Amino acid sequence: MKRVAMIGSGLIGRSWAIVFARAGWAVSLYDPVDGVADGAIPLIEAELAALARVGLVDDAKAAAARLSATKTLEQAVNGVDFVQENGPEDVNAKISIYAELDRLASRETILASSTSAIVASRFTETLAGRDRCLVAHPVNPPHLVPVVELCGSPWTSQDVIARARTVYESINQIPITVRREVDGFILNRLQGALLAEAFRLVGEGYVSPQDLDHTIKDGLGLRWSFMGPFETIELNAPGGIPDYCARYTGFYKRLQATPATPEAFGDGSVAEIVKQWGHAATPERISKRMQWRDGRLAALAAHKKTQPSS
Ligand SMILES: NC(=O)c1ccc[n+]([C@@H]2O[C@H](COP(=O)([O-])OP(=O)(O)OC[C@H]3O[C@@H](n4cnc5c(N)ncnc54)[C@H](O)[C@@H]3O)[C@@H](O)[C@H]2O)c1
Repeated sequence: MKRVAMIGSGLIGRSWAIVFARAGWAVSLYDPVDGVADGAIPLIEAELAALARVGLVDDAKAAAARLSATKTLEQAVNGVDFVQENGPEDVNAKISIYAELDRLASRETILASSTSAIVASRFTETLAGRDRCLVAHPVNPPHLVPVVELCGSPWTSQDVIARARTVYESINQIPITVRREVDGFILNRLQGALLAEAFRLVGEGYVSPQDLDHTIKDGLGLRWSFMGPFETIELNAPGGIPDYCARYTGFYKRLQATPATPEAFGDGSVAEIVKQWGHAATPERISKRMQWRDGRLAALAAHKKTQPSS
């Protein structure tokens, strides 16, 4: 049986544990905060049972039996084929975690980081095994959203990227390759561009935040749940992408001449959005909405599982 270590057993570590365990891997969980790795196991078990009810796990009990909590980093990485690191989003934390991982994990083991925004060259440069380190950035929660962005540093070996891709494919995730390091990788650059325009449009009074959300969830987002922007524009003109570009990019070029500036996220826009949003972000409300979101994502994942991929 293949074995993976989860280094950091918070939100993302628990979700990755589900992904690997349901695909047949043994998962050793580690967290330096006492009780977190042990406490993660019942939470993961409950989520596996919920996923089984919508057909997203074949055997929840068998998957749960493949989980174990470990007391030390050394125990966690002992004999594993793969490491998924999910520690704090802080470069100094990543530097010290990776120094330990590189010292303790067997030389062939790939060390993948879930970091959202820290490129691997910032925390692996001085390591003896820096060629086996890469970023594998998931979307929250990876057990319901399959894309994972793989991004090596200039010294990550191509063989490591290829092996990591094979691992993620084998556990039913969808890896994409970021060919060279870039701030925000791909997903958050796209999200950032959309959010900047959304903040600007609401902040400058063109639309309410609720109507802006409708534009995505009842408009663009319906197509985006099964096709990307290039697939979308190919079908929006009879002659495909070149025809679409000939017809419409003049308009987009005009828009890009005055892009949103950092001011889009300034205090004035934020205050305007919060005022119009109308809900206070209590912990109870956020937790209830997260559960609602995960239920909807699970239903969508179950639906997509029954459909041909293209
Ligand atoms: N939350 C998201 O939406 C999201 C999405 C994609 C990627 N990520 C990335 O995943 C990583 C983890 O994020 P999270 O949301 O699970 O955070 P989290 O706070 O829920 O979990 C982080 C865990 O790391 C543990 N930890 C602290 N010091 C550690 C150390 N030295 N070694 C190992 N573990 C340590 C903490 O005790 C905690 O349990 C971050 O790098 C984050 O950027 C998060």
